Amino acid sequence: MFEVSSEELLLWIQYTLNSEEENRDSLYLLLDLLAGISRSEINSLRLKPQKVINMRVSLDYLSGKWIEFIQNKKPIQYLSNSCYWRDLKLEVNNNVLIPRVETEQIIEIVLNLISDSTNELIITDLGTGSGAIAISLALKNSLWKVLATDIEQKAIKLASKNFKKYSNANNLKLFCGSWWQPLKKYAGKINIAISNPPYIPLEVYKSLSISVKNHEPQRALNGGDDGLLHIREIIKEAPRYLKRDGWLLLENHFDQAQKVKTLMLNNGFQCIDILKDMYGIGRFTIGRYI
Ligand SMILES: C[S@@+](CC[C@H](N)C(=O)[O-])C[C@H]1O[C@@H](n2cnc3c(N)ncnc32)[C@H](O)[C@@H]1O
Repeated sequence: MFEVSSEELLLWIQYTLNSEEENRDSLYLLLDLLAGISRSEINSLRLKPQKVINMRVSLDYLSGKWIEFIQNKKPIQYLSNSCYWRDLKLEVNNNVLIPRVETEQIIEIVLNLISDSTNELIITDLGTGSGAIAISLALKNSLWKVLATDIEQKAIKLASKNFKKYSNANNLKLFCGSWWQPLKKYAGKINIAISNPPYIPLEVYKSLSISVKNHEPQRALNGGDDGLLHIREIIKEAPRYLKRDGWLLLENHFDQAQKVKTLMLNNGFQCIDILKDMYGIGRFTIGRYI
């Protein structure tokens, strides 16, 4: 542990932000994730200048990380190898996407589909990355068997580590492979399938910020020419794997929902609904395989 006084820390924050006021949230996130000091704790220090604070890392170490953030545009979550997502603190690294806040809503959508929590269900998370969606659902109910896949072996390893931090249960199974392919033995048995696949059209991907393009895995974001390359494949194969009356829930790009709906309709889905995210964008498309 590294001891600093409140005064020292507050001065360091002031000095570090200097002309970077627009990055205040990022600096607080760095302090939280790396040093273990929350924003509310820092706010309360103004009244106690002599208070001694124990930090997990030194101010010099934080300064080094801050320079990497400013100069290389490396996201704070990668600099600290961690992120918050819903009520979880997950380890992340550059093999996985930093799970986004809009994706958090997927958990509520799924919970709303399930009327009886005493039923045993098989739920899949295709392209699990850090495991955010799969872990959240596996922790919700031990009667739900969650099967998660990813093409990236290092993501599978990380998702497994993230799950073990929260649970000793064995209701999350992780598989390395392309979309449904590792789930052959579950064909026709899956109640709910979820995916937040790579859906960004190539030309849009090329124009993304450096903090995304230079640091987050392209494989997690690039959805091919029209962004629908993976979504098409997932929908086409879904009827083989879903149980009759099973659901498929996909996250999509802001302007793709109608196209995703058409793809679902053309592949035997009904009861299709487009759900808006917190910004009012049709971000999720859900359909039932009847
Ligand atoms: C947008 S990220 C979503 C990650 C995580 N589910 C989330 O919401 O934060 C897409 C994920 O799909 C994975 N992926 C890409 N191509 C895949 C494929 N052919 N089969 C399985 N997973 C794939 C990527 O490695 C990445 O982890």
